[in-house]
Amino acid sequence: MNEYQRRREQFVKSLGDAVAIIPSAVEVVRTNDSEFDFRQDSDFFFLTGFDEPSSVLVLAPAHPSVKSALFVRPNDKEKETWNGLRAGVEGAKSLVGVDATYPIAELESRLGELLQTSGRLYYSFTGPRWLNEQVQERARQARRARPRTDGGPLEIVDPSLLLHEMRLIKSAHDVAKMRRAVELSARGHVAAMRHARPGMYEYEVEAIVEYVFASQGAQSPAYPTIVTSGKNLRILHYRTNRDRIPDGSLVLVDAGAEVDYYCGDITRTWPISGKFSAEQRAVYEIVLAANKRALELCKAGQRLNTEVNDGALRVLVEGLLDIGLLSGSADESMEKGTHKRFTLHRIGHWLGLDTHDVGSYRESGEWRALAPGMILTIEPGLYIADEDDIPERFRDISVRVEDDVLITEGEPDVLSKTAPKSIHAVEQVMAEGRTTAQALIA
Ligand code: GLY
Ligand code: MN
Ligand code: MN
Repeated sequence: MNEYQRRREQFVKSLGDAVAIIPSAVEVVRTNDSEFDFRQDSDFFFLTGFDEPSSVLVLAPAHPSVKSALFVRPNDKEKETWNGLRAGVEGAKSLVGVDATYPIAELESRLGELLQTSGRLYYSFTGPRWLNEQVQERARQARRARPRTDGGPLEIVDPSLLLHEMRLIKSAHDVAKMRRAVELSARGHVAAMRHARPGMYEYEVEAIVEYVFASQGAQSPAYPTIVTSGKNLRILHYRTNRDRIPDGSLVLVDAGAEVDYYCGDITRTWPISGKFSAEQRAVYEIVLAANKRALELCKAGQRLNTEVNDGALRVLVEGLLDIGLLSGSADESMEKGTHKRFTLHRIGHWLGLDTHDVGSYRESGEWRALAPGMILTIEPGLYIADEDDIPERFRDISVRVEDDVLITEGEPDVLSKTAPKSIHAVEQVMAEGRTTAQALIA
């Protein structure tokens, strides 16, 4: 049994006799007749490993023979010549290991029989409109036939709760893939530190990072690469990357590689000059200390949004008091939220097949405890605006240090540890990059 069959089996256990319909992602037009790069839906990929559009997985555990069916695009010589090979109906069956595969055009006529096998249907209605309409119509017909068939959905439930709980706890397979995605991400960051030079534009740094990702086998960046500098440093999801990096500025690079659908998500911040100024250093040391404090707290039983978040936040607040950007006491600031103009976001998020990965942050109304197998980001930051009441020397300094961490039975496993983050290590890598004529890929 492969990883995807194992996952389907586990999912079916939680379905009971219910039917589940899980659609693939759709192709989206970019301009005229060319599309954006296709990226499979993460839930669909999680259950099938199948990376083609116009596909639908139907699980019907109570069906006598077709307990799992995959509807796919049939082979088409002409279209495959232009746009790439398709697995086709036969190929998909052996690839995915379902009981039956059919051309997608047969979904409408086969759905009724599959839906009759249970009174409960799991479908999110987040598929394409044609599918939502087919499911709605076939479910209505099956329900109307209930007096004679004793089947057909009486209730329709969103499957994401079940699926996303599964995705939150990573398997050995997931962890191995995540290690690779994060390792490639880290290499992109090292290359950026080595090869960035004063006078460069933000997009040149983006190009270095993404060249490394692509040339090491990543399919794509996991999200639009963020390279900010100067006045842009405070824009959290800046993605234009068009400006010249001002002399003396920090550069914040938030970039992750996507490898086999698994996402890395790392941020490093460094001075384009190669040497942190005193003020940059002061702010950086605070954020780095908060990052380390949060990582220490990433143990099973601790809660991300309370112990971990607040532990790191206290370090940030105490640091802001030390450098005079806040006044009063740490408790007072944390209570009143006076730090929020500098901290802007919480400590981190789940990470996996999606960059902001799925899974509830709460359990029975409470923030949930970390558990072995979870992977998350730890990304404290301080963002100092150019505002009148801020001492001039601190204006436009922003720093984020983001790592990816696996929760284990014991110590946290920092997957992104090969991306340098101490001031000494960052300056050293940058200095080496400037004194040795090393190629972009060593
Ligand atoms: N790269 C987006 C984030 O860090 O959440
Ligand atoms: Mn990030
Ligand atoms: Mn992140």
